[in-house]
Amino acid sequence: MRLHEPFIRWTGALLLLCPYIGAFQYPSKLDVSGSLVVEQLLKLATFSDVPNPAVTRIVFTPNDMKARAYVKDLMQLAGLTLREDAVGNIFGLLAGDGSAEGLVQTGSHTDAIPLAGAYDGTLGVIGGIAALRALSAAGFRPRRGIEVIMFTSEEPTRFSLSCLGSRAMAGVLSAETLARRLDENGTDFLTAATAAGYGRGSTQAMLDAARVKPGSVSSFVELHIEQGPELEANGTSLGIVTAIAAPAALRVRFSGDGGHAGAQLMPRRNDAGLAAAELALAVEAAALGTGAPDTVATAGRVDLAPNTVNSVPPQAAVEIDLRDVDESRRDAVLAQILAAAEEIAARRRVRLQTEVANRDAPATCAAEVVAAATAAAEQLGASHARLVSRAYHDALFMAQIAPTGMIFIPCRGGWSHRPDEFASPAHVELGVKALALTLARLAGAAGNPGKAEL
Ligand SMILES: *[C@@H]1O[C@H](CO)[C@@H](O)[C@H](O)[C@H]1NC(C)=O
Ligand SMILES: *[C@@H]1O[C@H](CO)[C@@H](O)[C@H](O)[C@H]1NC(C)=O
Ligand SMILES: [Zn+2]
Repeated sequence: MRLHEPFIRWTGALLLLCPYIGAFQYPSKLDVSGSLVVEQLLKLATFSDVPNPAVTRIVFTPNDMKARAYVKDLMQLAGLTLREDAVGNIFGLLAGDGSAEGLVQTGSHTDAIPLAGAYDGTLGVIGGIAALRALSAAGFRPRRGIEVIMFTSEEPTRFSLSCLGSRAMAGVLSAETLARRLDENGTDFLTAATAAGYGRGSTQAMLDAARVKPGSVSSFVELHIEQGPELEANGTSLGIVTAIAAPAALRVRFSGDGGHAGAQLMPRRNDAGLAAAELALAVEAAALGTGAPDTVATAGRVDLAPNTVNSVPPQAAVEIDLRDVDESRRDAVLAQILAAAEEIAARRRVRLQTEVANRDAPATCAAEVVAAATAAAEQLGASHARLVSRAYHDALFMAQIAPTGMIFIPCRGGWSHRPDEFASPAHVELGVKALALTLARLAGAAGNPGKAEL
């Protein structure tokens, strides 16, 4: 991506004459190579349970441990100071001069759902390291330390709970909840984390150790591929996120009396499978009913038991994912779906069990982070637009402990969680530069105390 050279030269000259204008201290030349970052992303992708271009990397499995080692190597090569916490979050620090409170943090995840691609999450980690390396190479000395994080298990694949690392840092994960979530082999998180060299004596002790002290993070910004089509469709290079949609998850189980598919006549049946089918339609209707494009609801998983062709299904389990940037609207849709499940169950004479498995709050991005990212995009002369993150990220939980924002780059077709996930090296480079300049603004420049806050 081309920098806006005349602008930079001109402001540079102006600022030499006028050293108290803030941008003077922020590096205008950053050594970031988009193709090198992509090379590192593709190297990371090789630590996969399936052949590339698909990537499967599940937390604390051998390939995840290889990915962790690679990330730590890159952090060290970038001159960052390494630390790891009790749940396996990995941190690389570019030290500040100590003249301002709190750390500025960035980061994302490197775990990958089955048959995912090379960019989701990984960009925010590898790109975050590249951003800190570039700031340091440009001679930038921050007031606040800047830290890049590889968060543990953003994806829910192994323990059926997303964003474990950031939930733990934010202190919003209870030991009971975590201990109950077992992997496919009945292993709990503490056991897996301990085997990986993390953990503590108990789940509670581990979570207490990982929890961030209030006030110790001054802001957080995550770089990510958009995972949606808007930026590419509009020809916009950078997305500045204003809000992160709030997910909720609902589990519904219908049980009927089953019976032989030939012998059980239609009027006598209470078919749990049909109740599930009706509920899936009710989920769609409830989401469409708000009239808001930001409301989305999906009955993405339906399990029939025994799932055989010649029996009337006696059991049907439906898992529903529901999201909105407006929490009360999201909760109203959730209530509507629960009411629909009751109505369907009564009418079809099936028994009903429901469980709200998860209900998180949405996040509004902090004005100061949005402003810093906007200033960074303008400094780079890059086209940018504000948008909402419809997927959620570790940033959703970091927002509970610090002013938070996100920067998106376009990805091809808006696709992610697929082997053909792709972002161009030029956009990768621009995203990393924008991240670096945003972090520099949030951290403040050493020797320029009056201008640390934008
Ligand atoms: C569960 O055990 C099976 C069989 O040993 C193994 O292949 C699989 O990787 C294990 N799953 C996890 C998440 O460790
Ligand atoms: C894309 O363009 C549409 C139509 O002009 C606009 O409403 C939307 O905000 C734009 N989004 C982005 C991310 O540029
Ligand atoms: Zn992600």
